[in-house]
Amino acid sequence: MLLARALLSLGLVALLPAATATNFPFEETQLSEDDIGNFSAIAFGDTASSSAGSEGVSRCRFEPGDRGWPTDQEWARLNATLEGRLLKPVPPAAACYPGPYYDQAKCDFLLGLVNTTHFFLDDPLTILTTWPEGDTCFAVANPTGNCTQGGYPSYVVNASSVKDIQLAVNFARNRNIRLNIKNTGHDFSGRSTGQASLSIWVHYLKGLEFVPEYTIGEFTGPAAIIGGGLEAWEATNAVNATQNMTLVLPSWPTLGVAGGWSQGGGHNNLASLYGLGADQFLSLNVVTADGRFVTADVNQNQDLFFALRGGGASTYGVVTSAIWKGYAPNAFFSGLTFSFNTGPTKPGTPLFSSPFRSAPAVEVDDTETFWNGYNAYLRFSKSSSLAGGYGFGDANNLGNDSLSFIGSFLMANMTAAEATEFIRPLFATLRALGINQTDLTAATVPVARIQSPVGDTINNRVFSSRLFPRKNWESSAGFDKMTAAIRKTVEEGGYLFRGRSFSPNLDVAGYPGSSAAVSPTFRDSLMHATVFIPQDLTASTTSEWLAMHDRLARYMDGLRAATPGGGAYLNEADVMEPNWQESFFGSHFPRLLAIKKAVDPWGVFWAPLTPGSEAWEVNTADGMPTQNGPLCQTGK
Ligand SMILES: Cc1cc2nc3c(=O)[nH]c(=O)nc-3n(C[C@H](O)[C@H](O)[C@H](O)COP(=O)(O)OP(=O)(O)OC[C@H]3O[C@@H](n4cnc5c(N)ncnc54)[C@H](O)[C@@H]3O)c2cc1C
Ligand SMILES: *[C@@H]1O[C@H](CO)[C@@H](O)[C@H](O)[C@H]1NC(C)=O
Ligand SMILES: *[C@@H]1O[C@H](CO)[C@@H](O)[C@H](O)[C@H]1NC(C)=O
Ligand SMILES: *[C@@H]1O[C@H](CO)[C@@H](O)[C@H](O)[C@H]1NC(C)=O
Ligand SMILES: *[C@@H]1O[C@H](CO)[C@@H](O)[C@H](O)[C@H]1NC(C)=O
Ligand SMILES: *[C@@H]1O[C@H](CO)[C@@H](O)[C@H](O)[C@H]1NC(C)=O
Ligand SMILES: *[C@@H]1O[C@H](CO)[C@@H](O)[C@H](O)[C@H]1NC(C)=O
Ligand SMILES: *[C@@H]1O[C@H](CO)[C@@H](O)[C@H](O)[C@H]1NC(C)=O
Ligand SMILES: *[C@@H]1O[C@H](CO)[C@@H](O)[C@H](O)[C@H]1NC(C)=O
Ligand SMILES: *[C@@H]1O[C@H](CO)[C@@H](O)[C@H](O)[C@H]1NC(C)=O
Ligand SMILES: *[C@@H]1O[C@H](CO)[C@@H](O)[C@H](O)[C@H]1NC(C)=O
Repeated sequence: MLLARALLSLGLVALLPAATATNFPFEETQLSEDDIGNFSAIAFGDTASSSAGSEGVSRCRFEPGDRGWPTDQEWARLNATLEGRLLKPVPPAAACYPGPYYDQAKCDFLLGLVNTTHFFLDDPLTILTTWPEGDTCFAVANPTGNCTQGGYPSYVVNASSVKDIQLAVNFARNRNIRLNIKNTGHDFSGRSTGQASLSIWVHYLKGLEFVPEYTIGEFTGPAAIIGGGLEAWEATNAVNATQNMTLVLPSWPTLGVAGGWSQGGGHNNLASLYGLGADQFLSLNVVTADGRFVTADVNQNQDLFFALRGGGASTYGVVTSAIWKGYAPNAFFSGLTFSFNTGPTKPGTPLFSSPFRSAPAVEVDDTETFWNGYNAYLRFSKSSSLAGGYGFGDANNLGNDSLSFIGSFLMANMTAAEATEFIRPLFATLRALGINQTDLTAATVPVARIQSPVGDTINNRVFSSRLFPRKNWESSAGFDKMTAAIRKTVEEGGYLFRGRSFSPNLDVAGYPGSSAAVSPTFRDSLMHATVFIPQDLTASTTSEWLAMHDRLARYMDGLRAATPGGGAYLNEADVMEPNWQESFFGSHFPRLLAIKKAVDPWGVFWAPLTPGSEAWEVNTADGMPTQNGPLCQTGK
């Protein structure tokens, strides 16, 4: 049944013009000239006749209270065109504060059992890393301040069709309202929230179909068709049930598949075998800044197709669905987890939950031996990445001269015996260095394991990213500089250094991934590392926050200096990443900026650290790099 419908809609793709190349019923409902009638605020735009740049546009997007802010009647008229799907939500934690939304039971739930549910993913406002919103309303048992809307949107369109999205895009563009797109709210940099915005919530754009054989351009093979709001667990569990296709998906179950994760890159456990999330797109359906609905693939709108695959989300359009590459059935990993530590303080539960059982940690006599072991792991990670594997290694400072390391290898497409054999030389090296690591036996797990969609909690972590170039592994001087900077960051800085070792190079990106916008720097890297400030910064003042950030930035500068030609991964980076254009997009940046200006001369789609975002900035009252303030033009 499902299959028949998928084939039918694919048939339509070939026969009808681009704008009606629908994959799902929710894409068949589109905005027409008849719907617009005399409601000029929802009229389509025209990129050709727009006055690009600042001319004729207000300096700032309107805020509630401004004379230009739509009247209640106008919002109600928009709501009517949306058939009632316009929401005006308050933050959930308003339940903890005195006032009209006070609700002790709901507050208790937010403080306790929320992590056993899917609550935050089903909330129209929540972002999981809260500081970019301004921390204006978090759940606390005895609040002292007030709960305010802060950096959260003013209105949310609970999108159920392409038409809903077209209405929101046109209204925001025509009425000078800040526009936001939210999917799962996992973004770390505040890219899915914004003060005084009209937010398009794509969460309910579900839909998943499988096509055993799909052909486009040079690709012929299995494919999946996914809705713009589909989460990884939904796709993984469906693949598990059909047992007939392997998909490259986020390993975190509640991440969006076709949203920020893949449009910004999308690292995953299969990245050294089949590439990044961005490499899986065969075709995308998109509502663009003029309000039109288009298809972008190798045959049409090729610039858009390029940009949406690694050029960053929330920049070029709203993705409503995508056709996604599939691979031969039932892929599996084999691998293991091992750890060693030194000093009196012992590690607690690691943040990363490995699919493999951890062997007991090996005690190491001294710090020097610890780092020799870490360096051996890092040297070995090059061969594991080039053999299709994914390495995960946390080096952490536990205080009191205590250091811990926990590492995992997930070797894709290797049997347990093959992986055991493959990893054994590393253990021999560790023993030769004085780390009594006995040989461990790898276990096998399927790629499509059943996932549970719960466990997300609110947090306030701050960290920074670095992509480590392959060149650092190619000379002993380069390798030593890199490892010395890592050691300094952990030992002197006191930070957690989390390295993910994989190689998403052009060969594994394949077709059409190798023509995606993913930065050449990312292609040429062998490790994406994040460096974490250990403290939760919820209670810190602005100056404390900025001081902790500056301190981290100094150690990041040390890592940058040791890794010339490296960059940073935009989805897991610092909001204050220096020279982010080069760092995130490398040599693709000028082309991405030109595409952005061509498809969105109005700057309707805006999020921090995206191509073209330089033209606008959020003016915050406290000087924090949050979304809690008016969005105004910079004149750039
Ligand atoms: C717990 C956790 C684990 C993570 N693990 C990984 C990982 O393994 N690999 C990895 O690469 N990253 C990982 N990330 C980072 C992740 O890639 C980013 O947070 C990403 O932005 C999430 O995208 P989203 O669409 O799910 O979330 P959102 O925060 O809702 O959206 C992120 C951005 O995408 C835009 N967007 C969302 N949907 C659409 C759409 N349909 N069309 C256009 N724009 C859209 C939003 O406007 C926003 O700019 C992780 C993050 C968290 C919190
Ligand atoms: C717009 O059209 C509607 C009918 O579709 C009509 O009721 C209304 O008066 C019109 N408004 C204006 C301002 O012309
Ligand atoms: C939009 O209309 C629906 C149904 O009429 C209503 O429930 C909802 O509150 C309205 N939204 C706003 C923001 O007023
Ligand atoms: C949820 O959080 C509570 C405390 O806030 C914790 O005790 C519990 O282990 C968590 N449960 C899950 C499934 O993470
Ligand atoms: C909270 O709001 C009330 C009413 O608007 C106001 O009187 C009070 O000063 C506010 N408290 C804080 C801490 O801002
Ligand atoms: C959003 O719409 C979906 C249907 O698409 C509905 O199930 C859900 O309850 C709505 N959410 C809110 C907060 O209105
Ligand atoms: C799985 O795919 C194969 C072709 O690769 C096909 O022959 C088989 O019928 C499919 N099985 C199911 C359960 O769909
Ligand atoms: C360091 O050791 C002291 C004394 O054993 C202990 O009180 C303290 O908690 C330890 N600090 C850390 C960070 O483990
Ligand atoms: C998986 O391994 C088999 C056997 O070693 C090999 O033939 C096949 O090409 C591998 N698949 C991929 C995608 O690398
Ligand atoms: C090394 O580890 C093995 C297995 O845990 C143990 O039997 C042996 O005594 C250890 N050797 C030393 C020198 O610690
Ligand atoms: C489906 O998931 C279960 C549990 O995680 C696993 O045992 C099984 O092997 C998976 N099936 C496939 C085809 O991946």
